[in-house]
Amino acid sequence: MVWYLFSDVGTHLKIIVMSLIDKSEKKVIISTAAVLSLFLFSVLYAKGKYKSDVPECIPYNKTYETPKVTKLDDSTYQVFAVAQMWQFQPAEIYIPVGSEVDFFVTSKDVVHGFNIAPKNVNMMAVYGNVNKTTVKFDKPGVYKITCHEYCGVGHQNMEAQVIVNYPTAKK
Ligand code: CUA
Repeated sequence: MVWYLFSDVGTHLKIIVMSLIDKSEKKVIISTAAVLSLFLFSVLYAKGKYKSDVPECIPYNKTYETPKVTKLDDSTYQVFAVAQMWQFQPAEIYIPVGSEVDFFVTSKDVVHGFNIAPKNVNMMAVYGNVNKTTVKFDKPGVYKITCHEYCGVGHQNMEAQVIVNYPTAKK
């Protein structure tokens, strides 16, 4: 089969690709396109269904190296989470149910992980960089933040907690 691909340059139509495609080659192209479309659809579907948020990389400055929890209003919080061998700070984050939390994550030394499994949070804590993601905590409980990037002998003990109204939220 002969395929022509035209491109409009000014008033002229210019042929830029003209090739003969074998039948079996065509089948391969079509099946590849189908698999790729399915893949793309799955990614977009999961993004919608599980509300997965792609972490943002934002401009870095030194203030992100100071751990803190800031209350913006009754249900909006900002957490500056700082990873270093082998702990996260703040180690305990108390918030009320229904809170939306912006996590800004950085590291003071090597690369660490920042994982909140039940909330689909999977980020890296990297020295000199800040990663940000937003999580809504609808249900009370204790959500573990774990380091899932091997960072040395204390790696397996490196964790923190987000405590959502459990047993009662501290202010
Ligand atoms: Cu920090 Cu593993």
